[in-house]
Amino acid sequence: DLLIIGEAPGAEEDSLGEPFVGQAGKLLDAMLHAIQLDRQQVYITNVLKCRPPQNRDPHTSEIICCDSYLQRQIALIQPKVILAVGRVAAHHLLLTQAALGSLRGRKYSYNGIPLLVTYHPAYLLRMPAEKGKAWQDLLQVKKILSI
Ligand code: URA
Repeated sequence: DLLIIGEAPGAEEDSLGEPFVGQAGKLLDAMLHAIQLDRQQVYITNVLKCRPPQNRDPHTSEIICCDSYLQRQIALIQPKVILAVGRVAAHHLLLTQAALGSLRGRKYSYNGIPLLVTYHPAYLLRMPAEKGKAWQDLLQVKKILSI
């Protein structure tokens, strides 16, 4: 029911072939546990399917290259809610360049699917003071999922 979309695999994700398995992934797991969910109950993916060299920001051309894959994932999963984590996912899915802080806190529709935006867990590791806002976002997810 919940589809979480991040940016791109990091080094650990690339070597294991699984999204969000490094430090940011551990925080994402903790965030999910906070709303009584675990990894097995959600689908986690990234906008990009490969790691950009040196973890640089994805280029627009790379995002476009991976988009049909992401679209197919969304079509197959048919989630009840999409949670875009971080700037790259939010900008791509909402076709905007607005600051992430101004995008969160609202419910959007992505082809009819409710979409929420929150901070990327890697950002929250650097800025733990923002965790309270992410908690508010997760409560919205929980509300939409009625859990
Ligand atoms: N950051 C992401 O956006 N995705 C991952 O899979 C890992 C880190």
